[in-house]
Amino acid sequence: MDTSRQIEEVRERLERARRPVALTGAGISAESGVPTFRGKDGLWRNYRAEELATPEAFRKDPELVWEFYEWRRGLLSKVKPNRGHYALAELEKKKEEFAIITQNVDGLHSLAGSRNVVELHGNIWVVRCAVCGKEKEDRTVPMEEIPPRCSCGGLLRPGVVWFGEMLPVDALNKTYELLENTDLMLVIGTSGVVQPAASFATMVKQRGAFVVEINLERTPVSSFMDVVINGRAGDILPQIV
Ligand code: OAD
Repeated sequence: MDTSRQIEEVRERLERARRPVALTGAGISAESGVPTFRGKDGLWRNYRAEELATPEAFRKDPELVWEFYEWRRGLLSKVKPNRGHYALAELEKKKEEFAIITQNVDGLHSLAGSRNVVELHGNIWVVRCAVCGKEKEDRTVPMEEIPPRCSCGGLLRPGVVWFGEMLPVDALNKTYELLENTDLMLVIGTSGVVQPAASFATMVKQRGAFVVEINLERTPVSSFMDVVINGRAGDILPQIV
């Protein structure tokens, strides 16, 4: 089937869907200029995740970890949502029940106007005290001191989920509630290798939902999909919505 017929089919399905959801990953922000994690220019090609994005790394060298997050925060402070983010925000206006489950920590869905957003991996603009646990939004770029400190004296850490950590309970509960009820899922710009998000599409498909993948390339989950559209999220999503 050619891409325009696939887009037409997804458009019709989406129109009929009662509780559609989107699962998004780094690929949806790529066209805003945010680097992805895997692939040709992916962050984990040039940086070692275990030295920068684990609780052990933070205990060993909080300054190094913060330098990495400072660099990403600096980059993110300059980027804007793209046509893909805006198309999903538009979809929420048409379908009240529509929700986004994102693995991204960049906050771009909210900036585009989406309100039903579950941030499964946290948010880079949140800082949390590693000692007292207090959490707050902090958009300061650059930070006054690296690593920054909480008023209790403890070290502050980025409010994101690192490898080996539990996902935030509230976000996970909300996610499972959405997955139980959805009848159509759009899987957008995620490589489908990081759990648990990587198994969401197969879970909902087994329950009878229609699953659609939008990605530049095929992924390990492509073969489970009802429709696979290979292309840029910023080109495809506006046509679907
Ligand atoms: P990845 O970097 O693993 O994958 C990005 C995906 O987006 C790839 O499959 C690309 O083919 C696709 N892609 C790139 N540009 C695109 C575009 N313009 N339109 C559509 N697709 C495009 O990112 P994630 O799957 O989000 O976790 O990675 C999952 C998690 O691994 C991240 O949340 C992060 C990372 O390590 C943590 O840090 C805990």
